[in-house]
Amino acid sequence: METVVSGIRSTGKLHLGNYYGAVQNFVKMQHEYNCFFFIADYHSLTTHPTPENLHSNVRQVVIEYLAAGIDPEKATIYVQSDVPAVTELYLYLNMNAYMGELERSTSFKDKVRAQPDNVNAGLLTYPVLMAADILLHRATKVPVGKDQEQHLEMARTFGNRFNRMYKNEYFPEPYAFNFSDKLVKIPGLDGRGKMGKSEGEANAVYLSDPAEVTRKKVMRAVTDSGPTEPNSEKPDAIQNLFDLMNVVSSPDTYTHFENLYNSCQIRYGDLKKQLAEDIVLATAPVRERIEEIAANTRYLREVIDYGAEKANKSAQQTVKEVRDIIGIKSF
Ligand code: TYM
Repeated sequence: METVVSGIRSTGKLHLGNYYGAVQNFVKMQHEYNCFFFIADYHSLTTHPTPENLHSNVRQVVIEYLAAGIDPEKATIYVQSDVPAVTELYLYLNMNAYMGELERSTSFKDKVRAQPDNVNAGLLTYPVLMAADILLHRATKVPVGKDQEQHLEMARTFGNRFNRMYKNEYFPEPYAFNFSDKLVKIPGLDGRGKMGKSEGEANAVYLSDPAEVTRKKVMRAVTDSGPTEPNSEKPDAIQNLFDLMNVVSSPDTYTHFENLYNSCQIRYGDLKKQLAEDIVLATAPVRERIEEIAANTRYLREVIDYGAEKANKSAQQTVKEVRDIIGIKSF
């Protein structure tokens, strides 16, 4: 059976981008693959969270994984720092990851722009730790959003480099995956780029947002005064709303509004109302389970302990083999 690995940083509540780019695929994949889904708490240290925030954010992601339908009996759910073998593999991979290629990574360049006062070494080697997460279980499929594509390419580079240097075909090649065959980029509500936590609270709809909050956010989404010519190209902000509709609404609803747009009869208020209701409906099953799961601390602890045990077994096996391959052996 093929192995699947993916993770989400512990930076707070999950939004629609996390759901459609990643978690929805996790839930489907658990039935067909040997799955490891973790909470990337080491990765979130690059932005220096307070200890209280870090801990409650890890907890939040565990809760939302379970609320979304990841079954701890089917998939292994674990916290990255509960499996310290990953840091050892990270160290080995760092020896063959070069400054030039790390500095050229798009996400690194974006971070340098976003947090110029905190360009730490952890940010630079972020893709190496991510490669270690994946190679640790020798995974081949990695369900992620489009923004992670370059990181997957780097994971293949580091794995292949290790293979060439030490042992042919030891690490299989991991590829980004989405059930729809296309990696997705869920747009935000601000009319510009993708939905994300760092883009501002109003830009993202969270799975845990109450229906009223979702409605308010969607109704405030950026639009314009409407098309003036039939079949005209959509400006970015409008295209974003249609892209969102494409993932949350039915194909009929999408076509209905597309036809209205193309015939210049569209009223954005109607489109947003429909979109908001469809988001509320699509997220309801997850939202409704969040509170109940959050209240059950004992269950959360059991899930995490059980996951750590399974993940450690797989990780220690790999690291043991890697040590041997490299020549780190006991006398
Ligand atoms: P993170 O925490 O930023 O995002 C978690 C997952 O959500 C996806 N995602 C999106 N997908 C589509 N549209 C969006 N607007 C959107 N926003 C976020 C991301 O693509 C990701 O799949 N580096 C990773 C965490 C990580 C990881 C790994 C992932 C660490 N090690 C190993 C896979 C394998 C990250 O920062 O994701």
